[in-house]
Amino acid sequence: MAMRVSVDPMSAEPSPRTSAPANEGGGTSPAGQASQLLRTPSEGTVREKEQGAQALRPHAEDAFAAELAALAAQDDRPRPACWRLSPWAVATYLLGGALPDGTVISPKYVGPRRIVEVAVTTLATDRALLLLGVPGTAKTWVSEHLAAAVSGDSTLLVQGTAGTPEEAIRYGWNYARLLAQGPSRAALVPSPVMRAMTEGMVARVEELTRIPADVQDTLITILSEKTLPIPELGQEVQAVRGFNLIATANDRDRGVNDLSSALRRRFNTVVLPLPESPEAEVDIVSRRVDQIGRSLDLPAVPDGIDEIRRVVTVFRELRGGVTTDGHTKLKSPSGTLSTAEAISVVTNGLALAAHFGDGVLRASDVAAGILGAVVRDPAADRVIWQEYLETVVRERDGWTDFYRACREVTV
Ligand SMILES: Nc1ncnc2c1ncn2[C@@H]1O[C@H](COP(=O)(O)OP(=O)(O)OP(=O)(O)O)[C@@H](O)[C@H]1O
Ligand SMILES: [Mg+2]
Repeated sequence: MAMRVSVDPMSAEPSPRTSAPANEGGGTSPAGQASQLLRTPSEGTVREKEQGAQALRPHAEDAFAAELAALAAQDDRPRPACWRLSPWAVATYLLGGALPDGTVISPKYVGPRRIVEVAVTTLATDRALLLLGVPGTAKTWVSEHLAAAVSGDSTLLVQGTAGTPEEAIRYGWNYARLLAQGPSRAALVPSPVMRAMTEGMVARVEELTRIPADVQDTLITILSEKTLPIPELGQEVQAVRGFNLIATANDRDRGVNDLSSALRRRFNTVVLPLPESPEAEVDIVSRRVDQIGRSLDLPAVPDGIDEIRRVVTVFRELRGGVTTDGHTKLKSPSGTLSTAEAISVVTNGLALAAHFGDGVLRASDVAAGILGAVVRDPAADRVIWQEYLETVVRERDGWTDFYRACREVTV
């Protein structure tokens, strides 16, 4: 398999794009005016769309426009109101497959089919979808692709943080207009959620459990009554058919702002698991690294599968606290060592190999990245790493180059 090189491993992470609170969109600040100019109600960010293929990281609906169009053309199953595709076609888009005319749909999510089927079906019901899981299990990635396949637009996004205000979920005001004309629909700046309600689309809320509990509760009326009251105008916005919401939440954040049971009842929760087998994880890492390299149009590096296998083995062993053969118990370091981090380590390694090596991915190209991912806490994690190096890596057949490379960077 030809591997390509990326200089920006972070591009493995889907990027939040429209997370500014709604009132920033129409404020009088230069930044507010600029973002107002760049947005149209349902077409995402105008400038990004104009740039098309030049975007560093195109939205899912742009990057996979050909696949989505082929699916739409050949999909003769019933589509829920306002859906671009049938639930079957959405699942095929996520899991990959071949269409009757021979078009190959690449897999976006590698994991149990049932999980995707339940997630897609939930979006066709009156319940919202909550994707839960440990870091790096593709929650954001799946939510972006679901929104792209169902609504053709994955940009109706609210990024949850401890400082997310209610306006980011409801609506804000263009204060210049508000002061000049008083409250009116023209002075109101809709949030991505409000836009999704009026246009029958899927909105996304990232990291729901990081949002303060009282702000989270704004979603209760939206999700149960499917309305958003605007008391200032004595009006309300009623969601049209096709509206739904996908939230993501990280297992490790739970407890910080745990979901109220009232809100939780409005969601169907789908837990995204860590890859079941080493082969599945190697498959995910190689696919994503290849895609990232392609999207950045960087020079190809030939076969790096052996090194990818080693990175995945190290991550899985340390994460699971036991060696692959089950013989040696290990201490787990404090970092998550997720698949997403393995993707970053390999991508960095490929960039090193292409720019400073001989174009072949070697142990020395991934060693520093692995060290960075494993040793988060300089004291405790370093001891765990050194113990792993000396007791497991050193003894393993065919791993001498890897052992040496790791020793060199572990000072
Ligand atoms: N099972 C999988 N199938 C396909 N890609 C995956 C899988 N697991 C992880 N990835 C890849 O990992 C990267 C990171 O995923 P993503 O950012 O969606 O994780 P996340 O669960 O949202 O993490 P966090 O909790 O840190 O927000 C993506 O590039 C995604 O393609
Ligand atoms: Mg995420």
